[in-house]
Amino acid sequence: NKSSEVIFIVSSGLTDVFQEAVSVADVVLWAALYPLLSDSSELRSVRGWFERVGDLAACQAAANRVLHGKGVEALKTFLQKHPATQTQRRDSPTNATEVHSNPTSEIEEAAQIWSEGLKSSPAVTERKHPVLPQEGKRNVLLPSALPYVNNVPHLGNLIGCVLSADVFARYGRLRGWNLLYICGTDEYGTATENKAREEGLTPQEICDKYHAIHADIYQWFQIDFDFFGRTTTKQQTEIAQDIFWRLHERGFLLEDTVEQLRCESCQRFLADRFVEGECPHCRYPEARGDQCDKCGRLINAVELRNPQCKVCKETPVICSSKHLFLNLPKLEDELEQWLDKSTSSGDWTLNARHITRSWIRDGLKPRCITRDLQWGTPVPHEDYKEKVFYVWFDAPIGYLSITANYTDQWEKWWKNPQQVELYNFMAKDNVPFHSVVFPCSLLGAQDNYTLVNHLIATEYLNYEDTKFSKSRGVGVFGDMAKDTGIPSDVWRFYLLYLRPEGQDSAFSWSDMALKNNSELLNNLGNFINRAGMFVSKFFDGCVPEMLLNEDDKRLIAQVRWELKQYIQLLDKVRIRDALKCILNISRHGNQYMQLNEPWKKIKGGDGDRQRAGTVTGVSVNVACLLSAVLEPYMPSVSHTIRQQLQAPHTCVSAMLQNTGTFICTLPAGHRIGAVSPLFQKLENEQIEVLRKRFGGQQVCKRHLSIINQGSPAETMKMCFPERAKQLTALVAEQGNKLRGLKAQKADKSVIDDEVEKLLQLKKQLSLAEGKNPEPAAQKGKKK
Ligand SMILES: *[C@@H]1O[C@H](CO)[C@@H](O)[C@H](O)[C@H]1NC(C)=O
Ligand SMILES: *[C@@H]1O[C@H](CO)[C@@H](O)[C@H](O)[C@H]1NC(C)=O
Ligand SMILES: *[C@@H]1O[C@H](CO)[C@@H](O)[C@H](O)[C@H]1NC(C)=O
Ligand SMILES: *[C@@H]1O[C@H](CO)[C@@H](O)[C@H](O)[C@H]1NC(C)=O
Repeated sequence: NKSSEVIFIVSSGLTDVFQEAVSVADVVLWAALYPLLSDSSELRSVRGWFERVGDLAACQAAANRVLHGKGVEALKTFLQKHPATQTQRRDSPTNATEVHSNPTSEIEEAAQIWSEGLKSSPAVTERKHPVLPQEGKRNVLLPSALPYVNNVPHLGNLIGCVLSADVFARYGRLRGWNLLYICGTDEYGTATENKAREEGLTPQEICDKYHAIHADIYQWFQIDFDFFGRTTTKQQTEIAQDIFWRLHERGFLLEDTVEQLRCESCQRFLADRFVEGECPHCRYPEARGDQCDKCGRLINAVELRNPQCKVCKETPVICSSKHLFLNLPKLEDELEQWLDKSTSSGDWTLNARHITRSWIRDGLKPRCITRDLQWGTPVPHEDYKEKVFYVWFDAPIGYLSITANYTDQWEKWWKNPQQVELYNFMAKDNVPFHSVVFPCSLLGAQDNYTLVNHLIATEYLNYEDTKFSKSRGVGVFGDMAKDTGIPSDVWRFYLLYLRPEGQDSAFSWSDMALKNNSELLNNLGNFINRAGMFVSKFFDGCVPEMLLNEDDKRLIAQVRWELKQYIQLLDKVRIRDALKCILNISRHGNQYMQLNEPWKKIKGGDGDRQRAGTVTGVSVNVACLLSAVLEPYMPSVSHTIRQQLQAPHTCVSAMLQNTGTFICTLPAGHRIGAVSPLFQKLENEQIEVLRKRFGGQQVCKRHLSIINQGSPAETMKMCFPERAKQLTALVAEQGNKLRGLKAQKADKSVIDDEVEKLLQLKKQLSLAEGKNPEPAAQKGKKK
């Protein structure tokens, strides 16, 4: 403030005083550096300049007026409040400095608000179905990308859509938003027809079967949909056909003849997945009719070399057939206008912005919306009676029809852009369909549709440095996760910790064990458990009297700061970053306990016992806050914490509905319940489950002892047949390498190192195969 006063005074008298050598920038810098340079002999290189500017009469006058002739002394109190800024930059949404360097007033304020506690508890409104937009509320419509029905979703699918959207939905509800979270299986298309043929079922039977599998998996992962529907409904047909007619009447559809592959022996056109051949771009021999799995490029089926019907392996012939196209170029101007508005006012992840831009830059072309298939929404037009809508025209309409299946008042959500904010969650490969193709359908249909305001796209989650692949049996799939015996909360935690936000990430078993043990057990679990245990053990289960000193107040302010970050981050859907704030809160809590040692002070005199009480009381309140901020991430754990602490139902929303008020929700005298550790070791029953689950592998004694030593992740890893295969390959590779080295007469120490590596691999392999690894291990040690 003082500096700006100087600048103001000097600049108002500038014009005639200034010689060409001194500019406004000089004055600004001079004033800013005044405290540093005015009575120091350092920074000699700039002293000349500093004095030259300071010699100006205007500068001297201004400095005198502001500093009252006391020189830099006059700035003392001001400077003490703002210690030298830290050099390292924080990557956080605000530039707020750490709490411990904040002015005392902020710490006092945090402590004051905290002490006031729960005053008027916000009404916790029960969710009443159907959830509909309400006047004066923030109405959030939250559909998660619809998973394709014919596959069991893998962990990457989960984190890309339903799990990420679930965290945001839970968070939004705690914030008091009026929010509708829907999802469902996307059931039409060639993939379903193929699967039906493979399994000898009808497409409808396939959909029924897999819809139930999806629903089970999401339920196990505690995905709290308001409604989980499907696309094979009468609402889908009605709405898709309505949009089609509206586009048709308004002249946004084109007709064109398309060359297509047709299998004469099967009597069918071979779209997309019904045909395989060599990729025209990269020559990958098993490219599909719509896309190459190897190079990822889109393919027009007639471009495939050596095409083969997937069913009968005959060579198809080229035939032509009439199709309908959505005229994207005709909608481009309107699309651009809408995109400008949506991307500038909403939260679009960076990848979503880039992908959309590059699609438009490459030029929009008319896009085919019909297909020669049976399993789909029928095209209602006379001339296209044999055809259905192409899934990418059809599938996003599923959001509307699923909402319509949930409530007949669905238009209150989907034709209400004034009142409703729409968030779309997806993996990045789905972006163009949500940012360009589907919005064009809706814009062209001109029926006041709600268009996406916030487009949240993740990068990819890989599996141990490779890709998830059902056909190759690589990766963990939703149905397997629940059979591992690892609680769903722990899965959620680890997947969200890894959420590919901004860049790809990879699932790894050993990292999961590490994060599990370091962050969940040692950091979070340990803090919450100790806080509760101290109340139980030292204070008979009653929260003790708290008399805050500076240490306590500083902790409260730190926690409040992290809570604010958490809210700012989650408001921007930075789910992974916000999780780090939670872990920081419990880290602060652990440090605070470690420093204040209530377990020692409780044995001391009155003063010490008083201190132990305060520290315990503050800590258990931090634990209560943790249960609130954990709710979106680990709902069961969050619930258990609140149960153990007998925390009031309202404490969660109370702390999250404003911009982050950490308050004392467990006042002195509050009685907590029975406390027990949140994260437990694997028990014997769970081992039995594991043994059965991985029935092919004998769980040997060695495994049991490892499990009992508390390293379940090791066990999991070993029990996977995939792992054994991988290790066999590694052992062979290492053996070859070693033979090569010996043939080259390499240095003995080099060879010894490689031998040691080989022995380690062999040991892991025998474990993975359920054998006793000891002999190998001993040989390794003798060396
Ligand atoms: C929702 O769709 C299912 C499946 O088609 C149907 O059985 C059910 O009656 C529909 N519910 C409503 C309210 O339309
Ligand atoms: C669209 O719907 C809103 C109500 O959400 C209404 O206020 C508005 O007038 C409608 N606009 C058009 C063009 O129909
Ligand atoms: C959490 O704490 C670490 C180290 O204490 C810090 O580097 C990081 O910025 C903090 N993260 C958040 C999101 O507050
Ligand atoms: C994580 O640790 C908990 C104990 O806190 C244990 O029950 C769970 O099985 C562990 N999971 C993994 C993958 O290590």
